[in-house]
Amino acid sequence: MQNILSREDSGSTPKELALLQETAKECRKCTLAGTRLNFVFGEGNPSAGLAVIGEAPGAEEDASGRPFVGRSGQLLDKILQAAGFARQEVYICNILKCRPPGNRNPLQDEIKSCMPWLLEQLQIVKPKVILILGKVAANTIFENQLSLGSMRGKVAKWKEYDCFITYHPAALLRNPNWKRGCWEDIQLMMRHYDQLCGTIHAPINEY
Ligand code: URA
Repeated sequence: MQNILSREDSGSTPKELALLQETAKECRKCTLAGTRLNFVFGEGNPSAGLAVIGEAPGAEEDASGRPFVGRSGQLLDKILQAAGFARQEVYICNILKCRPPGNRNPLQDEIKSCMPWLLEQLQIVKPKVILILGKVAANTIFENQLSLGSMRGKVAKWKEYDCFITYHPAALLRNPNWKRGCWEDIQLMMRHYDQLCGTIHAPINEY
């Protein structure tokens, strides 16, 4: 059972997001357009209070055109669920919309080409809180080279958004010892979200 009270509607429309997706999916601004199977725009509630940002699509996401549907995505769903958020209640996307071959890290020119799509998405969704997954995504958004450890555990302002940074689910799959730290980050984020949005998210249980 979901233990949530809904946030008031932010006024954005699914149509605006759908229109942006229609334009974006034709993108050929970088070489990844030549290797992708699908453009992975993002999905979820167009007026979500919480947006989740990952790094880039992997093989399953490239094949399906949907973000976070592979093993990392299944773990992300569990993390969100443990915090009282249904997947369809939040908005999920990535910094890069196309899969880098072999899942290598995004290159600077790819980030530069792709970032305007993310900024436009966020301008439409207008999330109150953003959860950033992993060091690569956090370093990209904050344009720094700080360690993940030094960025976790606090709210970080980026533009008008209150951001929380935690481990990428792929890292948690490799290092289950980091799950406890991630859960602490998520609980911190939940408390902040509830204060901002006037909702109640009681943690269901650890994922
Ligand atoms: N990893 C990411 O960062 N994003 C996805 O969509 C899938 C895996």
